[in-house]
Amino acid sequence: MMEHGTMLMNEPDVHFGAQRKTGPVILDLKNISLSFGGVKALTDISFDVKQHEIRAIIGPNGAGKSSMLNVINGVYRPQQGEIIYRGEHRRGMDCYEAAKSGIARTFQNIALFKGMTVLDNIMTGRNLKMKSNFLLQALYWGPARREEIEHRKKAEEIIDFLEIQAIRKTPVGRLPYGLQKRVELGRALVAEPEILLLDEPMAGMNVEEKQDMCRFILDVNDQLGTTIVLIEHDMGVVMDISDRVVVLDYGRKIGDGTPDEVRSNQDVINAYLGVAH
Ligand SMILES: Nc1ncnc2c1ncn2[C@@H]1O[C@H](COP(=O)(O)OP(=O)(O)OP(=O)(O)O)[C@@H](O)[C@H]1O
Ligand SMILES: [Mg+2]
Repeated sequence: MMEHGTMLMNEPDVHFGAQRKTGPVILDLKNISLSFGGVKALTDISFDVKQHEIRAIIGPNGAGKSSMLNVINGVYRPQQGEIIYRGEHRRGMDCYEAAKSGIARTFQNIALFKGMTVLDNIMTGRNLKMKSNFLLQALYWGPARREEIEHRKKAEEIIDFLEIQAIRKTPVGRLPYGLQKRVELGRALVAEPEILLLDEPMAGMNVEEKQDMCRFILDVNDQLGTTIVLIEHDMGVVMDISDRVVVLDYGRKIGDGTPDEVRSNQDVINAYLGVAH
């Protein structure tokens, strides 16, 4: 994470250059307001997410970015506003329903089981898809076993996709930070989400780890067709891989558009340079 005002609009170092084709709006957030007691985390925020796009949310520390993701996947219920997901209108999402209906996420601070292996951590991402419960597993060994095999197959596919075969049996706590973040991505992907919410997937990484993560995010988007909502502080990365960017500052939306539009928006430049309000 960077301090308020220290993030400048650098030109990106790496050009991925792919022009992705986006579809219709699948997630529409309308006039969302969220407060915690006296703290207004979000004020009247509206933006949409189109199918198959990479949509970035940027803004200085405390701008409300994580709160926005928490509204989308139902951790927080906004006091005002409406969420339209796949044509269904609702005030807030329910966490379990959001996950069931194809919204997966990673967290700003890694949330993995450190003592468990990479494979087992990734398998926990399949929980929602598991039909058989403990009793069923005890009674009908056959079907439960077949299901287990299917889930493992999916987990192994994701492990191959993320190129972490060599560490599949390693306890996550022993891995370097960059790889832990990749495992967390794997756990979200194994749920086969339609929308993937990534909260600072590259924070604290070195340049090489960031480039790897960028490549995986683009591959997920291209090859798995997953829609991505991404919070990221590295402007080079944001400008390079996102289709559209929404900019928050003090819980309000101050910019929304293509990377070029946002880069030349004076309100956005002021927010990042820490100009007084
Ligand atoms: N659970 C909570 N209880 C009280 N206040 C909260 C809570 N979560 C967030 N806030 C407040 O809401 C505001 C927005 O916080 P949020 O974490 O969404 O910002 P952010 O843009 O993700 O910041 P960062 O870049 O530091 O991660 C902040 O003022 C924060 O202190
Ligand atoms: Mg945050």
